[in-house]
Amino acid sequence: MLHGRRILLIISGGIAAYKGLDLIRRLKERGASVRCVLTAGAQQFITPLSAAALSGEKAYTDLFSLTDESEMGHLRLAQESDLLVVAPASADLLAKMAGGLADDLASTALLATDKPILVAPAMNFRMWGHAATQANLATLAARGVKRIGPNSGPLAENESGMGRMAEPLEIVAAVEAIFAGAAALTGKRALVTSGPTHEPIDPVRYIANRSSGKQGHAIAAALVQLGADCTLVSGPTEEPDPPGVKVVQVTTAREMLAACETALPVDIAVCAAAVADWRTEGTDAKLKKKEGTIPSLTLVENPDILARLSQAGDRRPKLVVGFAAETENVVANAQAKRVRKNCDWILANDVSPATGVFGGDQNTIHLVDAQGTEDWPSLTKRDVGERLAQRIAAFFKAEKST
Ligand code: PMT
Repeated sequence: MLHGRRILLIISGGIAAYKGLDLIRRLKERGASVRCVLTAGAQQFITPLSAAALSGEKAYTDLFSLTDESEMGHLRLAQESDLLVVAPASADLLAKMAGGLADDLASTALLATDKPILVAPAMNFRMWGHAATQANLATLAARGVKRIGPNSGPLAENESGMGRMAEPLEIVAAVEAIFAGAAALTGKRALVTSGPTHEPIDPVRYIANRSSGKQGHAIAAALVQLGADCTLVSGPTEEPDPPGVKVVQVTTAREMLAACETALPVDIAVCAAAVADWRTEGTDAKLKKKEGTIPSLTLVENPDILARLSQAGDRRPKLVVGFAAETENVVANAQAKRVRKNCDWILANDVSPATGVFGGDQNTIHLVDAQGTEDWPSLTKRDVGERLAQRIAAFFKAEKST
């Protein structure tokens, strides 16, 4: 059921727009409140009046209507919804979304939101198969936009093939699945570390590594999408702050440890940061180059944040997940690391230069726990984040039922 859920339904142009009207009815039957936006194309097939009559709310059409702007600006329209559903999603609107265009109310609301988005594409099968449409869909998927359909079947103009919009009840099921998943970690507090640490040698030089923060940030974003209250403690990265995540910026391993300890107690800790194992003793004065002498650096060991969190006594998170960055004997080394650091799961990844894992967008994970190893296929780091978040949700669900 969808009681209390607020859905912004964006109906774009196409013969399937009439099914958008049925969708309003189906969503409302399940208790959702539905506000509609109709593009100019949609209005060639259905009227705002029919959408308003079925939804029981004004249907919005115009980006620059003074009335709409004063009553309900496009920003509020998007933000006061729990989910944006685009059904039908025309090839044109998908292209606008992928390109970040905002030239009408629908595309502006879609650009102005950080709420989840579900699209139900509908178009001619040649448009569906076109490389441009497929590239746009891949871009949207990489940004976390969910999709239902299209199906194969009869299309407009006596044609048939892939491009028929999913049926309203299928779309309702997808909406329900999103909300079911979205709530899975509600009430759980999570801590994620991400990025490298920089360890100063002197005021201008430091020791660092190649971590970009992509993996850790993707995990934090995925945990928040499932409803967790997430703190991300990040070393220096170029990655944007994931929406809805509390971000604490740090530089050194010791600062990272302090920020993690401040974030306790949490239910879940995921240590994805590439923390420098050593720091130099450091100096406040810049090391001077002297003819004929090469300075030597004395390294001292940094605190192990993952091990500290795993051994935090009654403040230990219920589930502690570490990573293992390995270049050989990946799984065996990860198994030993899990036991040594006393964490629950280790996500082992091969970081040999040829894999491009450090700094890249893909990752191949082996999840090691006390029971054994689960090999994941090569995934985008975003997908790794989502898969891990789902796995964590399943862990807590199993906990609850025992
Ligand atoms: O940031 P990206 O470019 O996206 O790359 C992702 C990644 C390769 C950095 C990530 O997937 C990864 O493997 N992170 C862990 C890197 C690492 O430091 O691995 P390790 O095997 O040296 O450490 C094992 C575990 O101990 C890790 O969870 C690490 O966060 C933690 N650790 C290590 C040292 C230390 N002083 N404190 C720690 O908490």
